Amino acid sequence: MRIDPFGLERWFAEYEHEADIMLAESGIRSLDASRFDLDPGKLGYVIPTNGDPEFRASVGDRYERSADEVLFTCGTQEANFLTFLSLLADEGAVDGGNGESGVGSGTHAVVVTPTYQALHAVPDAFGDVTRVELEPPAWELDPEAVADAARDDTAVIVVNNPNNPTGQYHDEAAMRAVYDVAVERDAYLLCDEVYRLLAEDPQPPVASYGAHGISTTSLTKAYGLAGLRFGWIAGPEPVVERAWRWKDYTTISPSLFGQHVAKQAMGRREDRILSENRELAAAHRDRVADWVDDHDLDWLDPVGVNAFVTVPDGFADAEEFCRTVVEEASVVLAPGHLFGFPDRFRIGFGLPTEELEDGLDRVSRVIEAHATEADSAAASGGDA
Ligand SMILES: Cc1ncc(COP(=O)(O)O)c(C=O)c1O
Repeated sequence: MRIDPFGLERWFAEYEHEADIMLAESGIRSLDASRFDLDPGKLGYVIPTNGDPEFRASVGDRYERSADEVLFTCGTQEANFLTFLSLLADEGAVDGGNGESGVGSGTHAVVVTPTYQALHAVPDAFGDVTRVELEPPAWELDPEAVADAARDDTAVIVVNNPNNPTGQYHDEAAMRAVYDVAVERDAYLLCDEVYRLLAEDPQPPVASYGAHGISTTSLTKAYGLAGLRFGWIAGPEPVVERAWRWKDYTTISPSLFGQHVAKQAMGRREDRILSENRELAAAHRDRVADWVDDHDLDWLDPVGVNAFVTVPDGFADAEEFCRTVVEEASVVLAPGHLFGFPDRFRIGFGLPTEELEDGLDRVSRVIEAHATEADSAAASGGDA
């Protein structure tokens, strides 16, 4: 088994620590810890290790599922990882080979891309992946293309909705049509819904569609609580149960601090936190829309705080543009080749307003300086 290096994380590792402004973070700016009680009592494991049963029951209610159909994890990243292990890894590994897990078999995954690399790299490491590529400029989900890619040995169809990096929010009709494909193939639809609550009007989560629906998410992106490392899987009990058995080998239990603060963030204060964050996202989206317009660039008007924008003239591709921006202006953007689209870059606009303004101004200056250089080179008959 081998797995590709995580391109986006490696890019951030190269630049994020030193740069002044992070204009490629995909979530909303972080909330201050002082808003919460930070004393969970004795610092043991969370017991039971799949998470506080009462809290799991209340999270399960959001999906019309029971406490046993929810597993708390360290972020969406672990939720997705464990779901892939549960669905794709050799059944004998956790079932003693008796095949009585109640989870279907098959090692093939259909993954709708472009998306967050973990959603295709991990199933590719355990099994076999067919990608269904969304096409610019609309990035629309085509259920027929998913149906064509599905096979008898397909165990899971994977969609990220709203989508990172394009900001497309596939509508419910398309999502339900893809769910029907999963049902026909006796597979599961796994939807990474980490951006769902940033939408003004969030659709029902996929885990509430029926027996073949699985949702993963966390408090990272919509709540601004990445540091909690708190997320979950909601789905059919056999899948969740197997994921829990794999979790015994990854992080054992969710973070005790994470669970303690998550209870508060999803309690009385939830509406306030989410409406504050949505307001910030909407105001920043308007600001970035003007900026995109000013520079004559193209994008899909996004849901969430990520947008996938075309590269300005004067740069060979997004990598050259993003390297120039970080080296000349100390602003980190994410080049689109990391998502398979070298003519786009991802901008993340969930950061604090002053940083956004400063970041956009700095990137504008880089674009303008290079446009001027290109113009003077053209005027003097040289190569630009
Ligand atoms: C689609 C998607 N899933 C999962 C993650 C990781 O989220 P978490 O912090 O909840 O592990 C990200 C982070 O960018 C993401 O974009």
